[in-house]
Amino acid sequence: MAIQIKKNVILAPFTTFGIGGPAEYFCGAKNAGDIIEAIKWAKNHRRPYYILGGGSNLLIADEGMKGLVIKVKSPFDNVQGRRQSKVKSQKDKAKVFAEAGVNLSNLLLFCIEHSLSGLEFLTGIPGTLGGAIVGNAGTKDGYIAEFIDKVTVLGQDSKIYDIEAKQCGFGYRSSRFRKSGEIVLSAVLKLKKSQKEEIKKKIKKILEKRKDQPKGKSAGCIFKNPVGKSAGYFISKVGLKGKSIGGIKVSEKHANFFINTGGGRAREVIQLIKLVQRKVKEKFNIVLEPEIFFLGEFRLPITTCCHCECKRSNL
Ligand code: FAD
Ligand code: EPU
Repeated sequence: MAIQIKKNVILAPFTTFGIGGPAEYFCGAKNAGDIIEAIKWAKNHRRPYYILGGGSNLLIADEGMKGLVIKVKSPFDNVQGRRQSKVKSQKDKAKVFAEAGVNLSNLLLFCIEHSLSGLEFLTGIPGTLGGAIVGNAGTKDGYIAEFIDKVTVLGQDSKIYDIEAKQCGFGYRSSRFRKSGEIVLSAVLKLKKSQKEEIKKKIKKILEKRKDQPKGKSAGCIFKNPVGKSAGYFISKVGLKGKSIGGIKVSEKHANFFINTGGGRAREVIQLIKLVQRKVKEKFNIVLEPEIFFLGEFRLPITTCCHCECKRSNL
């Protein structure tokens, strides 16, 4: 077996929030073959399974998770892996194949090396390609959906098939994969040929904008933006900037970021989410919907999250 199943692995270090209890079972998966093997193991042992990408858009319960957690880790993380990537060029366009576990920063480096433009908006977004596709990661400068040609998935029936971009159900921070239970194995991206210097210039500009966002352990924005407005604006207007519960603090720099200032717990994040939701609802009659995914069992259900699309959460 190429994969190694471990027992009782603490998940906090595998998340950018630095929060989360143990996985009953845990394994790394370097490629699509490893993911398939891991899922087969979980099915044979009648255990639920979960995919962890970069762990940058989720909250894992303090009590951890039952079943097998599969940490997808990119083969592009090393130079040899990068050489394995395939670039097919056609006039000014190019198609790039990448496995789900590739880090977005490595994908961006790859694009610079090959003078390919389109994904510059990913600058400063942590995580993997798989996670970015599931949540249609993006900014005002672009979304991953715009660059997808097709996605290869492992279906719940254990079959592997391709899904054209049009069938991916992409929306704001969403895709069909948020609820379909399909595992993203790889994708073909459609990019444009450009000049290295042009690409670098765009990246530099985006890096400048990123300076408005806080550093520290976080999961990025906690809430989705209500239509046309910024959740951060509402949170600051109810006076919660800097508010702390235990080790979790609403960032003073950007109120839609919660920072784990040290020893923060998932239950404290949930308490702060509920407080923010209540205050914003009272003052503006707006229900802020969490953007982050919830993995594991939560003892403090967020009742206002009933319209959250995330079927894999227990909320
Ligand atoms: P994870 O957090 O590991 O997983 C998210 C969900 O996707 C989980 O439910 C997981 O099970 C599922 N999943 C992951 N991989 C797969 C797969 N291969 N197949 C099926 N399901 C899978 N996001 C933005 O959109 N825009 C931003 O500007 C942005 N800025 C950020 C800044 C910071 C500092 C941080 C910490 C986060 C930011 N994020 C942003 C959030 C996050 O980085 C992105 O959503 C990212 O795409 C998540 O990818 P991931 O690999 O970390 O996913
Ligand atoms: N604002 C405040 N107070 C704050 C934060 C923001 O008043 O504490 C107001 C300001 O007026 C500001 C406006 O909100 O001009 C917009 O803020 P920003 O440009 O930071 O954008 P955002 O809407 O808060 C979105 C994404 C980010 C993405 C940025 C950049 C969501 C939920 N957030 O933030 O994505 O990086 O745009 O394009 O869509 C993420 O999803 O994790 C994430 C970080």
